[in-house]
Amino acid sequence: MTASSELRWRVPLSDIVVDDEIADAVLETVRSGWWSMGPRVEDFEREFAAFCRAPHAVAVANGTASLHLALLAVGCGPGDEVIVPSLNFVAAANAIVHTGAEPVFCDVISSGELNLDPQDVAAAVTPRTKAVLALHYAGFPCAMDEIAEIADHHGLAVVEDAAHAPGASFHGRMCGTLGQIGCFSFFSNKNLPVGEGGMIVTGDEELAKQLRLLRSHGMTTLTWDRHRGHASGYDVVLAGFNYRLDEVRAAVGLVQLSRLIGENEARARIAGRYREALDGVEGLTMPFGDGDRGRVSSHHLAVVVLPDVIDRDRVRAGLEERRIQTSVHYPPIHSFTQYRSLGQRRRLPRTDALATRILTLPLYGGLSDEQVEDVIEGLLDVVQTL
Ligand SMILES: Cc1ncc(COP(=O)(O)O)c(C=O)c1O
Repeated sequence: MTASSELRWRVPLSDIVVDDEIADAVLETVRSGWWSMGPRVEDFEREFAAFCRAPHAVAVANGTASLHLALLAVGCGPGDEVIVPSLNFVAAANAIVHTGAEPVFCDVISSGELNLDPQDVAAAVTPRTKAVLALHYAGFPCAMDEIAEIADHHGLAVVEDAAHAPGASFHGRMCGTLGQIGCFSFFSNKNLPVGEGGMIVTGDEELAKQLRLLRSHGMTTLTWDRHRGHASGYDVVLAGFNYRLDEVRAAVGLVQLSRLIGENEARARIAGRYREALDGVEGLTMPFGDGDRGRVSSHHLAVVVLPDVIDRDRVRAGLEERRIQTSVHYPPIHSFTQYRSLGQRRRLPRTDALATRILTLPLYGGLSDEQVEDVIEGLLDVVQTL
């Protein structure tokens, strides 16, 4: 059974599998009588760390919380600047702002490479720059070797927003372990869907300790530790947050983690079929087609770039008539009212040019061959008639 079976879309943008294994994991956790952060969260952290080949993993309430804590842990605060791509989800900019730092928006490489442009990163560095918050857009690893070199040269921290990239890798190293800290989201449309949830991975033990404290009010012991008699009191050593994950979501996360490789493989197959049928046809292009360059994608999003003469809203309306759901990832952050004035400080010509041309097609492991062919046929039909 899929969650969308009763919804309006014949082909939804994303969907989750609801089956007995998930339902049993939830029920078993509910029946255990321990719902707040406890043994399942610990298991989920241990298994996620092993999956990423990361020494430490810290589970949190959502991906935005992971970004907020990661930026705080590397020392971002008032007076600092954080370099971030504008072609991104707004959580990145909001998380930067909530540390007291200021986002500095950067451009993407090209319409074929929608990731952060290292040259523009280098150009954006000032004496106030503290960190680079690098996104692996759509699940394709960004140019982390070049970004790390720039960061090293200027003494900057690199935080990876790997929300799209669980299971993706760059020259054999897992996304999330390429910078000081990697951040993941388990929102319902992600490759590892839990509802709401997130994870932070790091190789640095001190950072891991700091992240655990920040996650839970700066308290030195957990309710779970006290419940099982491992502690009887606690101290508070910093002003933290309640960004904890709960047991029910961790139980779902453990099941989803066991399915992640299969999910990513299914997505890769579908993305390959889209590329084969659409890239270079009717003026459409599929980004990230330029060889693998040592990267393995998790194929979070299937993004197509429309010819600039075509009205994207009409394409989307034509597909909606066929009950095919599409989206836009993303309206650039600097185009939103909240970030417009900050966005005017730097020119982002490639992001601006792409903003009206990118279109996200349905992509999730459970898409049937028939649905994939419907999307291809629908898109080509609509584009031909415009
Ligand atoms: C690139 C990116 N960063 C951060 C987030 C924030 O994650 P969450 O929705 O779990 O807070 C998301 C997901 O929604 C995302 O796509």
